[in-house]
Amino acid sequence: MSQVEIHGYAIVSDNECIADASGHTPEVLRNEADWAYFQAELNKSAVIVLGRLGHEANANPKGRLRMILSSSSPGLERRADGWWWHPGKLSWAEAISTVLPAGGRVAVPGGRQVFDLFLDIGYDAFHLTRAEGTHVPDGVPVFSECRASRNAETILSERGLVPGERRVLDPASRVTLAIWRPSDGNS
Ligand SMILES: NC(=O)c1ccc[n+]([C@@H]2O[C@H](COP(=O)([O-])OP(=O)(O)OC[C@H]3O[C@@H](n4cnc5c(N)ncnc54)[C@H](OP(=O)(O)O)[C@@H]3O)[C@@H](O)[C@H]2O)c1
Repeated sequence: MSQVEIHGYAIVSDNECIADASGHTPEVLRNEADWAYFQAELNKSAVIVLGRLGHEANANPKGRLRMILSSSSPGLERRADGWWWHPGKLSWAEAISTVLPAGGRVAVPGGRQVFDLFLDIGYDAFHLTRAEGTHVPDGVPVFSECRASRNAETILSERGLVPGERRVLDPASRVTLAIWRPSDGNS
């Protein structure tokens, strides 16, 4: 397979949530500096891999190439709005070699099941933004394995990733970023 680099992106609350109890992004997780960072990263990516709900909730005004996870796909299918992929029917290696035959950078913006899936496939980088001081009651965690005693950092480190230097994206709102990468550097 050609060289593919997988980058995950999430902004999470102090209690590890990416969405509220209704599955929507709450105001406390919307931040201009994080959004600008995320958009600049998407500009460097060859394809964006996301869940069907996120795809339907977020318009694609820049016409970026999307790969949408859904059980409605027969495996991998090209539709007008992107490639529709069902991981239960076709492996990642086969799917991405069709979508990006020459390789390239893959952006993974979630949601939860998609973040879970790529924990097993393997992240080359996970861009973890924290909206510090925020709490989302009964929300959707970034990874299914998250619990009070197991935060996103624990789960990433169990998968062999280590954090780079913590960077402040927005001092007023206490929004910080750490990029986690495989410790062996050989992924
Ligand atoms: N804070 C953040 O960084 C962040 C990140 C991501 C999302 N969000 C927010 O979270 C919400 C959406 O996230 P979500 O987790 O509820 O939904 P989602 O991941 O966007 O979509 C879930 C859907 O994706 C498909 N899917 C996911 N994994 C699959 C798999 N392994 N095999 C087959 N199909 C699969 C299924 O579609 P079918 O039903 O068609 O089978 C599933 O119903 C949005 O409000 C979004 O804005 C926030």
